[in-house]
Amino acid sequence: MKIMVVGGGGREHAIIKKIKENKNVEEIYALPGNGGMAEDATCVNIGAKDIDAIVKFAKENQIDFAVVAPDDPLVLGAVDALSEIGIPCFGPEKKAAIIEGSKVFSKNLMKKYGIPTAKYEVFSDAAEALRYIQTAPIPTVIKADGLALGKGVLICFTKEEAEEAIHSIMDDKIFGESGSNIVIEEFLTGPEVSVLSFTDGKTVVPMISSMDHKRALDGDKGLNTGGMGTIAPNPYYTEDIAKRCMEEIFLPTVNAMNAEGRTFKGCLYFGLMLTPDGPKVIEYNCRFGDPETQVVLPLLESDLLDIMMAVSKGELDKIDVKFSDKSACCVVMASEGYPQKYDSGFEIKVADDIEAQVYIAGAKLSEGKVLTAGGRVLGVTAVADTLENAIIKAYAEVPKVSFANAFYRKDIGQRALEALK
Ligand code: AMP
Ligand code: GLY
Repeated sequence: MKIMVVGGGGREHAIIKKIKENKNVEEIYALPGNGGMAEDATCVNIGAKDIDAIVKFAKENQIDFAVVAPDDPLVLGAVDALSEIGIPCFGPEKKAAIIEGSKVFSKNLMKKYGIPTAKYEVFSDAAEALRYIQTAPIPTVIKADGLALGKGVLICFTKEEAEEAIHSIMDDKIFGESGSNIVIEEFLTGPEVSVLSFTDGKTVVPMISSMDHKRALDGDKGLNTGGMGTIAPNPYYTEDIAKRCMEEIFLPTVNAMNAEGRTFKGCLYFGLMLTPDGPKVIEYNCRFGDPETQVVLPLLESDLLDIMMAVSKGELDKIDVKFSDKSACCVVMASEGYPQKYDSGFEIKVADDIEAQVYIAGAKLSEGKVLTAGGRVLGVTAVADTLENAIIKAYAEVPKVSFANAFYRKDIGQRALEALK
């Protein structure tokens, strides 16, 4: 089989490595992929948002199955366009991807169907939003409606910060048209849990839970990033909570999307907060999380491609999705300075005896060398029998990867370990 994976980061590298385990796979193309994953896939220089070129490539190369991994092409309708020319895909259609593409849509969906989430108001007019904020509870959370590279959420601890946020999103348009509408919502507290799930619109199969570390620096300090590391499973996510989430959140969401005529097929990501009032939805993503995928897929014992094809056919109920009872830890190695200014172009070296998976996110090939080419450069994932051992192992393997300005958090998983004590 010829497989095409749209996207080019660490998440896509993890998906590709897992798909490669299927014996029927002859060739995997990554569009665009990155120079660091060239051993595992044929990288094709087509951007993940260039839907016309993606469709043309798939047709010309007789692709048997496509996986569309990032949010942008999903929201732009890549799956619809590929399906139109008869290529089976893993990923939601445009009308279902809106669950991530519009926060106004997802908040209204949750309100309509009674799915627990933070209380909120929607504004399309900055003056009205500013008036509202005068009497709103502080802290408050202000979110741009549309996609904003994961940066469209501003947590405001004073009224002045909230006013500033409204101005910068709605007047200065720091997130472009994504900020034409905003959601202002209640500030929630509690541990966060990421739950990725497979769903074909009839069956929902949650994957093993995970925990992201979004801040750049140890102790959850510094700027928000795309994610500096992950662990799985998340110890806060107990069996009782999982049961509650299935009944109160997962099934109601899938059913709500069906009722709206927007059946979701693919990976539905639940970003949850375990508040004192129970689990609530912080956000939905219409795709695998990054870097959650880099700890979830190494623990998947079933065949990923078989699951994806079953989802696409609406036959997920016929598949037994099994996860190992081990734990995983992924430490993201970034370029010093990320998420702001950083240098790149430094050679990445990986020792031959490394006992971890290395998922490359930001790299390019140049004269046979793999050079850094991004803020988040790669993730090192170790698997072990316990969470503590997975963390120890990941940090033991990290020094076997080197590049000139490498920077990484030293405390990935520490909060999770405390929860276990
Ligand atoms: P998102 O980009 O939607 O993943 O949001 C980024 C982060 O902002 C989340 O991981 C949470 O830590 C935080 N956040 C979002 N919404 C809220 C909320 N209502 N209350 C508290 N924190 C929030
Ligand atoms: N790690 C969070 C996300 O993928 O959106």
